[in-house]
Formats: sequence, structure tokens, C-alpha cells
Amino acid sequence: MFNSKPVLVSGIKPTGDLHIGNYFGAMRQFVELTRTGKYQPFIFIADYHALNTMQDAEEMRRRTRELVMAYLAIGLDPKEVVFFKQSDVPAHTELCWIFDTITTMPYLMRAHAYKDAEVKNKEITIGTFNYPMLMAADILLYDAAIVPVGQDQKQHIEYARDTAEKFNRIYKTDILKLPEPYIMPGVAVVPGIDGQKMSKSYGNVIPLFASHDELAKCVMNIVTDSSGDRPENVYQIHRLVRSEAELAPLYEEHRGKYKILKELLIEDLDRYLAPMRAQYEELQKDPGIVDDILAKGKNTARAISEIKMEQVRTTIGVA
Ligand code: ADP
Ligand code: TRP
Repeated sequence: MFNSKPVLVSGIKPTGDLHIGNYFGAMRQFVELTRTGKYQPFIFIADYHALNTMQDAEEMRRRTRELVMAYLAIGLDPKEVVFFKQSDVPAHTELCWIFDTITTMPYLMRAHAYKDAEVKNKEITIGTFNYPMLMAADILLYDAAIVPVGQDQKQHIEYARDTAEKFNRIYKTDILKLPEPYIMPGVAVVPGIDGQKMSKSYGNVIPLFASHDELAKCVMNIVTDSSGDRPENVYQIHRLVRSEAELAPLYEEHRGKYKILKELLIEDLDRYLAPMRAQYEELQKDPGIVDDILAKGKNTARAISEIKMEQVRTTIGVA
């Protein structure tokens, strides 16, 4: 049914407003890798993963639609990319269960996300504990060759690789292909306005579709350390939207003048983000597009994943 290009798989949870950390850390790579024409991309909405932290039906529906529009607004082409909702493809949870039967609790207890939650004394649902197995299923169902993500997801890809190896070993098969993470070296972790990792859970984000005024507010709030000449937290964001060669003379000329450097950053960010923001606003006028794309993606992703599930069922002896 599909061409024989290596497969790219990635997903994002529809849990909050996207920020430039999501974009530079992961989403921009979706676009760049797709444009090379070398991959067959499957990019999905990780709504079942989101369910661990978001239990509001209206919000789930709204944020799912927003994420599809965001994928389109950043330049992904629905003619090339298969877009779908994780929940539309039952094979994801089915394969997750099969992985659960070969995975031990101590192994899952080593996951960073689990350990962090435990240190913070949070109540941990089985869904959160099992997060890496659903993610392994997301990836392995499509024979993914590469999985573009930010640095924080690297361990999850290792879980997917380990699980594929273990399954293949137990069942003396090679039907599960080992995926490689794809993490952009210079942007592995985008800092937030407080200098920590930018994350919606830390409230330190610059929203991807922020208006000029919102951008200005965020940038002016970037925490600066007055000890050095260069405001590092400003620079680390600035270099994402303008080359370091161009920035060097500007930072030299305005050495120590943080307000001017922030104003320059606001304009550069705005120039970079404005076309995507305009595209996003345009898409909001035509809600039918989202429905059509998801309906089409659902059929394709179901058909492709069912081929792998047939192999898996035969391999484990339930078919
Ligand atoms: P958040 O941390 O805001 O909850 P998600 O966990 O939903 O973001 O991340 C979605 C994608 O964006 C993942 O591939 C993740 O690695 C990437 N990402 C998120 N924040 C950053 C960041 N600050 N720097 C680089 N990549 C990031
Ligand atoms: N865990 C990823 C995140 O928090 C989202 C995700 C779910 C994903 N399944 C995936 C990413 C499969 C890549 C491949 O961002």
C-alpha cells in the first residue's frame, strides 16, 4: 500500500499550548525531515497519553483540533504526512498490552518520568507508569526508522528499542524493527524564560503562536543574570531564530544593554513566527479541514498497523 521509504514516526500530546521549545526541539525537525522526501512520515496526536494528565472531554477535543492545525501551520503537508489520533487506531493499545506481558515492573521503575513523579510524591496512575510501553507500541507498529523528538524523550525511544529486542528474542523473530531517535544537537533542550527547560508544566514558555504583544511580554520577563556581558537566557533563545554569526556583532555592540537586546529578540522572534501564526489563524476559519485529515489518517494508520498486528498475533500464537 505504501512506498518503501524509511518511516518517520512522532507524536505530541494535546495537553497545552505549544511553545517554541516544542517547535525547535521536535516539530521543526518533522518539517525538515519530511521536506527531504526521504521518509514516509506518520505524525499523530497522542491523546491516550494525554489522558494521564487531562481528564476533560471538551478540552481534549479542542486541543486535539488545535494540534492538527498547528501541524499544518508549521508547514507539514497532509498529502505527504499521515496524521491521525492515537485513539483512532486500536492497535496501539493492543500492542501495548502484549508488551506489558513481557515487561517487568523494575524495568519500568527506571523511567525518568516515573522516578520524577515518585520523588515529588505524586500519585502515579498505571497509565503513567506504563507510558513507555504505549509509546513503544506507537513507534514499533509502523516499523519506524527514525523518531524526531526533544532530548527529554530519548529514554522513551530506548524503551522502545529494548522492547523490540526483547520481543524478537523471546519469540525468535525479527518482525519488530529497532528505531533510532533523531535529536537536533544544538536545540536538544530549549530554555524557558527562567532559564530552566521550557515546559508547559513550569509556566516558563514562549507560546508558538503568540501575538507580537504576547511575545514582547514573555521576552521582557526573561530572567537575566547581571554577572556577565551577555544575557545568556536571551541569547540561547535568540540563536534559534538568527544565526550566531549575525548575533555576534549585535551582542558586542549592545554589550550589557539587556533591554535593547531583548527588543531585538522580540522583533526577530516575531519575524520568524509571524508566517506560522498567520497560517494558524487562517486554518481556524475552516474547521472541516481537520475532520477530513483525521478521517483519512485514521483509515491509513489502521490499515498499516493492522498488517503489523497480524504478524504479531501470529507470532505470539493467538492467530
Ligand atoms: P512539555 O515539556 O511542555 O510538556 P511535551 O512533553 O509535550 O512538552 O513535548 C512535546 C515534544 O516537544 C517532545 O518531543 C519534547 O521532547 C519536545 N520538547 C518539549 N519541551 C522542549 C524543550 N524545552 N526543548 C526541546 N524540546 C522540547
Ligand atoms: N511522549 C511524547 C511526548 O511527551 C509523545 C509521544 C507519544 C511520542 N508517543 C510517541 C513521541 C511516539 C514520539 C513517538 O512528547
